[in-house]
Amino acid sequence: MSRPRFTNKVVLFLAASAAALLAIYLFWSFQSAIKELLEGRMGANPSPSAGTIISVVKLFLIGIAGYLFVRALNFLFFGLAFRLKRLDAPTLIRNIFTIVAFTILFLIAFTFLFPDVNLGALFTTSAIFGVILGLALQDTLGNFFAGISLQADRPFQVGDVIVVGAERHTGVVEEISWRAIKIRTFANHVVLIANSNAAREPIEVCPRDNLNARLVFFNTLYTDSPAKTIHVVREAVREADNVSTKVSPIVRIRNLGDNGVDYEVKYWLEDYAKYNDTDALVRQRIWYAFRRAGLNFAYPTRTLFVDRQHAAAQRDGGAIGAIAERLSAVDIFAPLSVEETGMLAQAAVRHVFAPGEMVIRAGDPGSSMFVVHNGRVRVQVNENGRPRTVATLNEGDFFGEMALFTGEPRTANVVAVEETEVLEIGHAAMKHVFDTNPDLVESLSFIIAERRHGLEAQADAAAPTNGSSAGLLSAIKRFFGLSQ
Ligand code: CMP
Repeated sequence: MSRPRFTNKVVLFLAASAAALLAIYLFWSFQSAIKELLEGRMGANPSPSAGTIISVVKLFLIGIAGYLFVRALNFLFFGLAFRLKRLDAPTLIRNIFTIVAFTILFLIAFTFLFPDVNLGALFTTSAIFGVILGLALQDTLGNFFAGISLQADRPFQVGDVIVVGAERHTGVVEEISWRAIKIRTFANHVVLIANSNAAREPIEVCPRDNLNARLVFFNTLYTDSPAKTIHVVREAVREADNVSTKVSPIVRIRNLGDNGVDYEVKYWLEDYAKYNDTDALVRQRIWYAFRRAGLNFAYPTRTLFVDRQHAAAQRDGGAIGAIAERLSAVDIFAPLSVEETGMLAQAAVRHVFAPGEMVIRAGDPGSSMFVVHNGRVRVQVNENGRPRTVATLNEGDFFGEMALFTGEPRTANVVAVEETEVLEIGHAAMKHVFDTNPDLVESLSFIIAERRHGLEAQADAAAPTNGSSAGLLSAIKRFFGLSQ
């Protein structure tokens, strides 16, 4: 694209130079003939004289040639020499060079052609000239000086995306000239913002070499888990084109909205100028990821409570079946009959914890134990004021039995590693199980003794350090009022 345009420019320039030189040559060759012709037509004492008119035309022609010469100089100096050194001269500096060089050439030509005219006096004494110049150049000078301050400050550069003023003109900076900032909008329009206006307006700059971020919004139904949503969306966005790999996208809840849970995803772009396409791609990736993960976008909803007791009972029955299945897979409950496991499942309460949430806090009193239904937890003790993990428990593992069976405070913190669903079983339900299965107490006392042993190694652990499994057994029996 740029090559042919460049060649066209050069050809045009050479043609204009040839024409100017030819005009000068012809005018100079025929100046006496033209002068005679003028004098013949203008009468005895014309004002201005034929000589003055000839000089003005000469000045005009020299002006054109001078302008072309300065352009050529400009090109050679900035276009070639700067490029060779891999420097890019700002347009404003090129313009200033052109204006100064042209003015110098013009003044030289003027004094040469009109040696009698005192230029200094002409400029300084002419009040009218000053007023006219002042009025005419008011805006131009404003732009010019604003342009100089823009070049000095360099708040943005060619290639940066900027958002200017109350109208929020947004686009990629293409040029900063002595008059205006030229930006190309995302609709491929060119917007020119006069430098003096830009100097007054707030400008938001998104530098090209900066990691600029974007926010994209979406929502889910209240029934969709936040931890799962955040994970799914983060992974989906991370792999989209033009999303920077340097910083991981952030997905977070903005609001618990009327229709669902409102989220935002913040991601960083390699090339900020393509943010429209990237936003669209991110939304598309979220849609597909939702499809695969079984997540749902929320749309305007209204919650209706319909009395469907039968359906509810069936649903709960299904849930209790799943809980009973989970409990029957827990090794300490293996000796229980199907009915007993079913009763325990009825008594169990489900809780969901977000990643990082504390299920149990060391030192708290506790009268229930937990089974990990889904997810994973970490058992942590404080060592020199810092948490130290002593065990990680997965689906089907249990915890919280120590405080429940001994009546002592919780011995450790238990923290959800990922989104975790636990089943809480209280004192009354366990007592019922012990009454019918006295052997269970014994196997539990072994496990508790073993876990205590694990805790003994930790410095600040809240666990008491004594207690064999035999001692524990009688302590548990005493606590639950069972026969020794
Ligand atoms: P409790 O003391 O009620 O509360 C903290 C729980 O962490 C504790 O019961 C045990 O269930 C669990 N726990 C403590 N130490 C260990 C360990 N070494 N291994 C596995 N679980 C443990």
